[in-house]
Amino acid sequence: MSLESIKYTRGSLEILDQLLLPLQTRYVKVKGVEDGWKVINKMQVRGAPAIAIVGCLSLAVELERDNNSDKKIMRQEIEGKLNYLVSARPTAVNIKLAADELINLANTLSADESVTPEDFKERFISRIEGMLIKDIEDNKAIGRYGCEAILKTLEGDGPVRILTHCNTGSLATAGYGTALGVIRSLQETKRLDHVYCTETRPYNQGARLTAYELVHEKIPSTLIVDSVVSALMNTRRISAVVVGADRVAANGDTANKIGTYQIAITAKHHGVPFYVAAPLTSIDMALTSGDKIKIEERPDREMTHVGEHRIAAPGINCWNPSFDVTPAALITGIITEKGVFAPDKLSEIDSK
Ligand code: MRU
Repeated sequence: MSLESIKYTRGSLEILDQLLLPLQTRYVKVKGVEDGWKVINKMQVRGAPAIAIVGCLSLAVELERDNNSDKKIMRQEIEGKLNYLVSARPTAVNIKLAADELINLANTLSADESVTPEDFKERFISRIEGMLIKDIEDNKAIGRYGCEAILKTLEGDGPVRILTHCNTGSLATAGYGTALGVIRSLQETKRLDHVYCTETRPYNQGARLTAYELVHEKIPSTLIVDSVVSALMNTRRISAVVVGADRVAANGDTANKIGTYQIAITAKHHGVPFYVAAPLTSIDMALTSGDKIKIEERPDREMTHVGEHRIAAPGINCWNPSFDVTPAALITGIITEKGVFAPDKLSEIDSK
């Protein structure tokens, strides 16, 4: 059974505290929007799809308790709370797109006189609950398309060796995962020989979370420090790199965990295909290119300390951008639930 990062039933939400993994498994109650903002901002839950789902579910649990019977006030409060949730972390677009969709829904329900306040609440909460199911379905489709694309580019039936970065699995989504979903699909075909995952400094999503998921799923895998990537590609035949995304611009430029860009450069140098696995909820067609993506900068302490222990020299300045942007020219394909697209062909998704 895969890991359960989000436990939700109507009126109740708990998330697996990812700050404590892999050493402790503890769930944190999220009682409403204030808690939702905090767990996202502190990165107790992280990963672009999971941020959006937990943010919206935190609103759903708050709304379930709310006895407001004025639709206009409900609409207004919903808009304010969604905009607040979006401010918790700025780079991933999924929560912004979900908020826009839900604000539209609230506007429609509020304007429709045939909709009672009870219907409003029911339909609004149901829409949010639907996100949990859809994300898992989308991830499974991403897994299938990615697996097909990678197997097609390989000569013969040789071993498949994948490199991935950060964490894109069950912990970062509603379940199954995006890039890790592709890895799971490859594992199901019995063609997967080995997965390499980077530590992903400074927050160590690779060492703490991806390694945990790979071990849990019994997928043959090896952890490498981030600076080993070039040596890995030079000495072992890597079939493909597959990473996730926090925001893909309309031209295919992709913001993902810091370090992704340098992996893409190395992959280009070594002729290794470089795939981004991302649901449509990570694609921001309103941004023409990656230089317009706001990159979150995280506190110095994530770099200077491991847990309570300082590892960096006191007094040193730090720069800790949480994401970088990989130019479209370095990306072989973007794997979505609608198929695999060349980065300059994202506009064709709508016709699928
Ligand atoms: O800072 P994080 O841990 O939220 O960053 C996560 C990533 O960069 C993931 O690769 C991305 O969100 C895709 S998760 C399916």
